[in-house]
Amino acid sequence: MAKLSNNLFLISILGISLVFTQFCDGKKVLMEYIGATGVPVKFNTVPINQSIDFHFILSFAIDASPQGESQNGVFSPYWVPTLTQDSVAQIKSQNPNVKALASLSGWSLGDTVLRWYDPEDPDRWITNAFTSLKSIIEDYHLDGIDIDYENFPKRRRRSSPNSTFAYCIGELISLLKNQSVISVATIAPFYTTVGPYMDLYGRYAEVIDFVNYQFYTDRVRSANGYLDTFRVRSMQFGAEKLLPSYEVEGRGIQGEAFFDALRLLEKSGFSVNGVMIFSADASVGGGGDDYYYEKKSQAFLLNSTTLL
Ligand SMILES: *[C@@H]1O[C@H](CO)[C@@H](O)[C@H](O)[C@H]1NC(C)=O
Ligand SMILES: *[C@@H]1O[C@H](CO)[C@@H](O)[C@H](O)[C@H]1NC(C)=O
Ligand SMILES: *[C@@H]1O[C@H](CO)[C@@H](O)[C@H](O)[C@H]1NC(C)=O
Ligand SMILES: *[C@@H]1O[C@H](CO)[C@@H](O)[C@H](O)[C@H]1NC(C)=O
Repeated sequence: MAKLSNNLFLISILGISLVFTQFCDGKKVLMEYIGATGVPVKFNTVPINQSIDFHFILSFAIDASPQGESQNGVFSPYWVPTLTQDSVAQIKSQNPNVKALASLSGWSLGDTVLRWYDPEDPDRWITNAFTSLKSIIEDYHLDGIDIDYENFPKRRRRSSPNSTFAYCIGELISLLKNQSVISVATIAPFYTTVGPYMDLYGRYAEVIDFVNYQFYTDRVRSANGYLDTFRVRSMQFGAEKLLPSYEVEGRGIQGEAFFDALRLLEKSGFSVNGVMIFSADASVGGGGDDYYYEKKSQAFLLNSTTLL
């Protein structure tokens, strides 16, 4: 009798730890945007540590024709053609810890600045987006989507309807997850787009896995400033899914100060569960140490003591 209950006890412990490892495998994440600028970048040049959940974010899938006309939710891939369907399959088969996501929209297509437009028929838009993205996701062996709309209509008059952004995007992610088309969804707000993204996150947080907040847009250059900004953004999006981010050869904090900032975040009680980097395009062939920030970020994440 005692033996039986011991076994039952063990079995239930095993069951609990199984659920726990399925829910979160304890790995930290690196998010790497790739393919947005036309540089002929490839996956297999990026250093990937097997102990990290490595997410490539293909930039971008866009609801627009090549001339920049919106297509009522019909998305097409516009990332650099060196990121082929076969190369996604290959990098994933070589690295079981790799996932690949399509980022939606981005700033511009050619000379056309892209913006969220409120579709006349939101449900039609959702259906079109679901169908077109499902096909891209299957063709390219993708695991998820990232939301990177960066421009929104001006504040509406009191008489006009609410923005459809949160509804359309939230329902789209929910549907893609419900139909098991994707397993991961992330969002990429920055300082002028916090409003619409808080609306989205407030209503659909349960289907959003990570917040790739673009800290470099806050143009903070010191570790202390970074900590202050992180505190503010963690009040808006929660700390748990919020990832510190770095723009290679870009805005905001640069160089070793970024790692000082990560250490300061941990010292201040935040667990650094991952890092987002924009982008592989800037990291490759810069003449210096290729992928320095990718390598050092992964080393930092593996070295730090706090786990998810
Ligand atoms: C991965 O990280 C571990 C722990 O930091 C390190 O020992 C190993 O060399 C790394 N592997 C690669 C390929 O960077
Ligand atoms: C529109 O916005 C108002 C104010 O934020 C909110 O109370 C209302 O529920 C919204 N309506 C819809 C349909 O989302
Ligand atoms: C999809 O939605 C249906 C209906 O709400 C629900 O019963 C089902 O469990 C969901 N499946 C997943 C994978 O979320
Ligand atoms: C790892 O952590 C130790 C102790 O905090 C620190 O001294 C060392 O510099 C860290 N190494 C890296 C690669 O971050």
